[in-house]
Amino acid sequence: MAMEKTQAKAKKSHWTADDSAALFGIRDWSLNYFDISEQGDVIAHVDCNGKPVSVSLLDIVEGIKERGLDMPVVLRIENLLDQRIKTLNEAFATAIKNSDYQNHYRGVFPIKVNQQCHVIEEIANYGAKYHHGLEAGSKAELIIALSQLQDHNSLIICNGYKDAAFVDLGLYARQMGIPCFFVLETLAELPIIIERSKVLGIEPLVGVRIRLASMVEGHWNEDSGDRSIFGLSTNALLTVIEQLKQANMLHCLQMLHCHLGSQIPNIRNIRSGVLEACQFYAGLVEEGAPMGYLDLGGGLAVDYEGTQTNSTHSMNYKLDEYCSNIIETLKESFDPLGIAHPVIVSESGRALVAYSSMLLFNILDVRDHKPGNIPDSLPEDSLDQLVNLYAVMQNIQSNNLQECYNDSLYYRDEVRELFHRGQASLRERARAENINLAVLKRIAELLPQAKRISPELEDLPELLSDIYYGNFSLFQSLPDIWALDQVFPVMPIHRLNEEPTRNAVIADITCDCDGKVDHFSSQGTISRTLKLHPLCENEEYYLGVFLVGAYQETLGDLHNLFGDTNVVSVHINEDGSFDFVREFQGDSIADVLSYVEYDPKIMQEQFRRIAEKAVRDGKISVAMRQKMLLAFRENLQGSTYFER
Ligand SMILES: Cc1ncc(COP(=O)(O)O)c(C=O)c1O
Repeated sequence: MAMEKTQAKAKKSHWTADDSAALFGIRDWSLNYFDISEQGDVIAHVDCNGKPVSVSLLDIVEGIKERGLDMPVVLRIENLLDQRIKTLNEAFATAIKNSDYQNHYRGVFPIKVNQQCHVIEEIANYGAKYHHGLEAGSKAELIIALSQLQDHNSLIICNGYKDAAFVDLGLYARQMGIPCFFVLETLAELPIIIERSKVLGIEPLVGVRIRLASMVEGHWNEDSGDRSIFGLSTNALLTVIEQLKQANMLHCLQMLHCHLGSQIPNIRNIRSGVLEACQFYAGLVEEGAPMGYLDLGGGLAVDYEGTQTNSTHSMNYKLDEYCSNIIETLKESFDPLGIAHPVIVSESGRALVAYSSMLLFNILDVRDHKPGNIPDSLPEDSLDQLVNLYAVMQNIQSNNLQECYNDSLYYRDEVRELFHRGQASLRERARAENINLAVLKRIAELLPQAKRISPELEDLPELLSDIYYGNFSLFQSLPDIWALDQVFPVMPIHRLNEEPTRNAVIADITCDCDGKVDHFSSQGTISRTLKLHPLCENEEYYLGVFLVGAYQETLGDLHNLFGDTNVVSVHINEDGSFDFVREFQGDSIADVLSYVEYDPKIMQEQFRRIAEKAVRDGKISVAMRQKMLLAFRENLQGSTYFER
């Protein structure tokens, strides 16, 4: 890798924090939780007991380093999680009040969205005042919910496939007065619930998850529609009613559950899904089920792009609109039928936790695409192809860009062909590649003046962009970028009153060509490159990937054996100070090796034997052996990431 580090910072000149704010769209995607200070640092804005407080992320990074933790770090800001819980609950409360809706809202957080202990503890503790509950999709998640929720007005919703042991746990919760619902995903679950209920003598709270025909836009549209793998068909719903009646348990059926999909970008889809759910609810009331709860699942989106549109990673509505649309639809559906308003339940995951976590990492190196040295003139005996290529370079103008592009690639390839056949030297090939690169650079510079730009010329800025190597693993920390082409806001967290002059893509430190970030939301469009600052000598350059609190930590994997990053949770105080409420050391190399079933002790012993044999064979001294064993042991205890 060629290292490019400028000695001096880029000129501050006219560039301001506001320019950076516009470039990186921070005021569009951050819901005002983040902004840029006059000093050019990203700041988190939080509400401390009604008082607005701002803290620079760079100050937090300094604090993290002082405590001996290295990058990369997942930083959680506890206040932001609390604020999201408050905002969601209060938005529903306001919509309920405004529409004179005759029941209340109960939120439940789906544990799968972020299972980390601190996140769940905070939701359980802070959420208690709103009776915010938890959704469990497995036995392990139910065990989390049962141990964390202290407030017994908060719901536990059990989705997913439930065996007898799962059902028994939920029934015990019921007996202790915890409102724990079993939501039937399949018909096969009902006989188990009925049988265990009879054996233990505890009545269950039953919900039915229905398969809505309403389809949604966005990536997760297969959670609804006829081919959805989740939920009961209309016919299966009737079978549930019959089986419950036969068991004298129809009175246990109290909840209708549906989930249209995650990250629904278009409010119209939500409205029509809710309308359909209301008709199912009314149908169940007509069948004699007592009902009382309508659970609308997740789907409330996060505007990762900040474009406020119905594109996949955005949303064309605001939280207030989401709540009022739901409440209005329920009222419009139930009032004419004289059906009592149900408790509204929603399982918002990403909208609750995305904002509070960010991935922070340092840039290790930059590879630019600068052409090497090009002479003022070519030697007399140069290859014809080189001479022609040189002429192309000298003739570029805004009205012949495509022609120069075509010719440049043609002559460069001719020289490469000659090299293949042994008719051009290494130096001639290097010269051809250098001149071609200079041509492409010049074309890219002149593109804004061109009248028409072909798709291949359009791709040039990305092709010629710098590669910034970041100290993180995409597969561990940002898996949805790899799996779903998810767009997250990415930007430097400092130097934002300097103009970022480099066009860059970001590569991680795995050895995988998929380990890169090359889609960025910028000024209302998706750009293939991100504007970044040149590195400064002896100074770290930190980037932040924002809104990563949902799904990323949970779905990350061990590609190339890069493990969990360090995680730090801070709580910001009224006076602008912050407490490090949690610090988790990321995985050591020994940890990740044991995940893939190596025994670090045995590995040490095997390495010891190799070193001992090397001593016997006279290849190393005993002192050297000791040094090597120590290095081996220290590495096992060290971080899987790059350490300075
Ligand atoms: C049943 C259920 N509820 C809630 C959620 C959370 O969705 P979101 O994160 O979009 O709020 C999901 C996720 O897909 C889900 O499957």
